Amino acid sequence: MAVDNEVYDRLGETWWDEASPLNVLHGSITPGRFAYFRGVLARRLGTEVAGLRALDIGCGGGFLAEEFAALGCQVTGVDPSPVSIGVARAHAAGRGLRIDYRVGAGEDLPVADAAFDLAYCCDVLEHVSDVDRVIAETARALRPGGLYLFDTINRTHASKLLAIKAMQQWPLTRLTDVAIHDWDMFITPAELAGTLERHGLVPGEMTGLGARARPLAVLGGFISARRGRITYGELSRRLDVGRVRSTAISYMGFATAG
Ligand SMILES: C[S@@+](CC[C@H](N)C(=O)[O-])C[C@H]1O[C@@H](n2cnc3c(N)ncnc32)[C@H](O)[C@@H]1O
Repeated sequence: MAVDNEVYDRLGETWWDEASPLNVLHGSITPGRFAYFRGVLARRLGTEVAGLRALDIGCGGGFLAEEFAALGCQVTGVDPSPVSIGVARAHAAGRGLRIDYRVGAGEDLPVADAAFDLAYCCDVLEHVSDVDRVIAETARALRPGGLYLFDTINRTHASKLLAIKAMQQWPLTRLTDVAIHDWDMFITPAELAGTLERHGLVPGEMTGLGARARPLAVLGGFISARRGRITYGELSRRLDVGRVRSTAISYMGFATAG
């Protein structure tokens, strides 16, 4: 099954809309992953983050770009979806945030060599056609000692059940009617660590990112959102996504440029 990345142009106008399935990334996933990244930043690059040059690879509507910009980072956001980039630009301007958004792909980043202290790629690696090239490009864009942050989806039975069956196939629970994910494109932590190492990025920690709500509440939330009883933003908040022990579904972590 081919991933339908065109969905980010079709639905791209709705990234910030509470009722949009794309907003699932925002409600608790953005706060959950950003809290972890903030901690890694402080440990690895020190508490003074204002002025750090940050590259957001596959920035979508700019959920994380705005978080890093609000910290004072100089953020460049890259995404192949022109609709998403347009929405991200307009939203940042509405908040008075200066973010340099560019249309481009992770496999061919429109940025100079060694231009960034920090690069991050969140919920994107499982969408790209050439992970190896995206990581090679990321390594090229980072300065020596720079930090790479990521989250992505593991390739396990559990991820097939949640990310494929529940989120995109079962009529009662699915988020959209299109193939936003292809299980074969999910990446195990060991595969990602190997790819990072091949390109001179030294893997650090990897840890789980997942719902902390009870499984029945998660299931009920998906059904309520599908039926239009709650928004996808509300669903996301109810999931209470954050750091969890298991890496069986999604995981996040960091690496350092050698
Ligand atoms: C699930 S969204 C994640 C958006 C954003 N990173 C976030 O977490 O809010 C996946 C994004 O990856 C982008 N994408 C797809 N193929 C890509 C590629 N080859 N390089 C960079 N981004 C890509 C899509 O356009 C989309 O915006």
